[in-house]
Amino acid sequence: MSKGAETPVIKVLTLFPEMVRTVLETSIPGRAAKQDLVRYEVVDIRDFSVDKHRTVDDTAYGGGAGMIMMVPPVVEAVESVRKRDDATVILTTPQGATFDEVMTLDLLDDLQLKGELILICGHYKGIDERARELVVTREVSIGDYVLSGGELPALVIADALVRRIEGVLHNEDSAGNDSFTLARGGGLDCQWYTKPPEYRGLKVPDVLLSGHHGNIEKWRSDQAASRTRNRRPDLADPDEGIGSDT
Ligand code: ADE
Repeated sequence: MSKGAETPVIKVLTLFPEMVRTVLETSIPGRAAKQDLVRYEVVDIRDFSVDKHRTVDDTAYGGGAGMIMMVPPVVEAVESVRKRDDATVILTTPQGATFDEVMTLDLLDDLQLKGELILICGHYKGIDERARELVVTREVSIGDYVLSGGELPALVIADALVRRIEGVLHNEDSAGNDSFTLARGGGLDCQWYTKPPEYRGLKVPDVLLSGHHGNIEKWRSDQAASRTRNRRPDLADPDEGIGSDT
């Protein structure tokens, strides 16, 4: 990061702070924080409950199954960490826009511009609509299925963002050829091999052992294109080259 720039902070509001901390302290997200390329603040929404039982949810007005997260703890937890009025405050919910590579880069820009990004882990049946109106600026889903809570989605978002912060990935993490990398056309990555050269009769393709870098690069890009075509034809845009024969 450039000198003088503040370390960006990802703030996660959750009912399960230990679960969130454990993941953020592990692997690449943990290393990034140790290198001061990002910071995490994990906030326990229960700390903003207004009763001695630390209640954060209640039954729905009008009846119906399922508990609803109450508005005061959610709003006050956000207000306790939000530094800027225009901070992006994401609620993880199956009703949100689907998270993808384009959104990753957009949220990364936002994090770097504003210095903070707030993630509220949704729970129970949902949150009181007034919390949405008062503090949520964006709703994000990680796919069309329902999880038990918003912690895993928030961690998915945080991980995808952190690995894109400059300096976080090292050469051995090999980000440049990740699947979906837009600079590479947004398609899937090719297949990869390591030692041994043969296992149970299965051999590493000869070209990879040839030492001929030009041929290796061409093989990899052809494989990536045909994988994309076969597995994700929706990503194989013939005009962009990847996934096409041209
Ligand atoms: N909460 C529960 N399921 C979810 C999903 N698929 N995406 C985001 N938040 C969620």
